[in-house]
Amino acid sequence: MKIAVLAGDGIGREIIPQALKALRAVEPHPGAFEFREAPVGAAGLDAAGDALPAATLDLARWADAVLFGAVGDPRYDTLPPGLMPGSAIRRLRKGLNFYANLRPVKLYPELRNASTLKPEVIDGLDLLIVRELAGDVYYGTPRGAVENDRGEREALNTMRYSASEIERIGHVAFQAARERGGKVCSVDKANVLEVMKLWREVMIEVARQYPDVQLTHLYVDAAAMNLMRDPCQFDVIVTSNLFGDILSDQASMLTGSIGLLPSASFGQERGALYEPIHGSAPDIAGQDRANPIAAILSAAMMLRHSFGMMTEAARLEAAVGQVLAKGIVTADLRSTGGQVVGTEAFGNAVAAAI
Ligand code: NAI
Ligand code: MG
Repeated sequence: MKIAVLAGDGIGREIIPQALKALRAVEPHPGAFEFREAPVGAAGLDAAGDALPAATLDLARWADAVLFGAVGDPRYDTLPPGLMPGSAIRRLRKGLNFYANLRPVKLYPELRNASTLKPEVIDGLDLLIVRELAGDVYYGTPRGAVENDRGEREALNTMRYSASEIERIGHVAFQAARERGGKVCSVDKANVLEVMKLWREVMIEVARQYPDVQLTHLYVDAAAMNLMRDPCQFDVIVTSNLFGDILSDQASMLTGSIGLLPSASFGQERGALYEPIHGSAPDIAGQDRANPIAAILSAAMMLRHSFGMMTEAARLEAAVGQVLAKGIVTADLRSTGGQVVGTEAFGNAVAAAI
């Protein structure tokens, strides 16, 4: 099992080692996992003058699965967006032809008091955000600020989707719903945006092939409201790249911390990429304060989806629960009143529990 380890920047370098410890604890036999590391993000710029060095992309293509930390470094904030460390993850997804991003949002019962929402609103929370990853304003034609005819600076990005791009992410969502609660909520802005009108039309067409799955629609603003009001109504949420980015950060707060949520990205071809939904968190980087749970749960998703290691994946997830049940938490979950430990100590506790 070939695994490319791209820890990246900031807390990426602190949380990925914890995920690796958890993986080693379930390795079927020594050498079953072949880990190879490469720099990405600011680490790539420092090492090779490119946020995504060619050798790093090659390694990702060689691997059966990529375990990714986070990219982003304030030292490079003055670069244009296309050259910044954060561009590496978008180029990597594009380079590997990944268009689907699964973001499960599940409440650990041990953390029902960690959320800013009332426990009775989030009890039993278990939803899946299916975010389209290859289109939308993220890949539309960008035009940096230029002076317009009124002598004012003007910039633009274009929001674009083709029917086939919407269709393929629709199938991912409906297939996932079949294995879960049988419901898909498609989130768009069809009342205002032409491209979102197409999104809704195509979702309705795809739904015809899944008569056993119920399809509903919400405008993104109403979806944001409903995520806070009654999040347990949702099973699978399918949405565009931009809306999925925003809604999943919002959804993470239902569970208590952005440091809890893993994700999986894939396309039609072989290979997949697993990463926490959060970024490099420069505000806490290098302080042994980051929550490694999202990284450990990303490793669990890797075991399940890339290697069919269902039992081992469940062991990782259960071990996280066991540590939380003992009242051990990282600083972001301080409000639970548990014993606060560092990133490294939390990772050791999970590996020991496994
Ligand atoms: P962020 O997700 O890095 O941090 C947002 C807030 O959540 C910060 O206060 C941070 O301390 C906290 N946080 C995040 N992960 C945490 C964890 N595991 N444990 C405890 N607290 C955690 O988002 P932000 O601050 O907007 O971006 C920082 C950098 O990360 C930027 O350069 C951005 O471009 C990049 N970024 C990279 C992503 C990726 O690599 N996929 C995704 C999002 C942002
Ligand atoms: Mg984001």
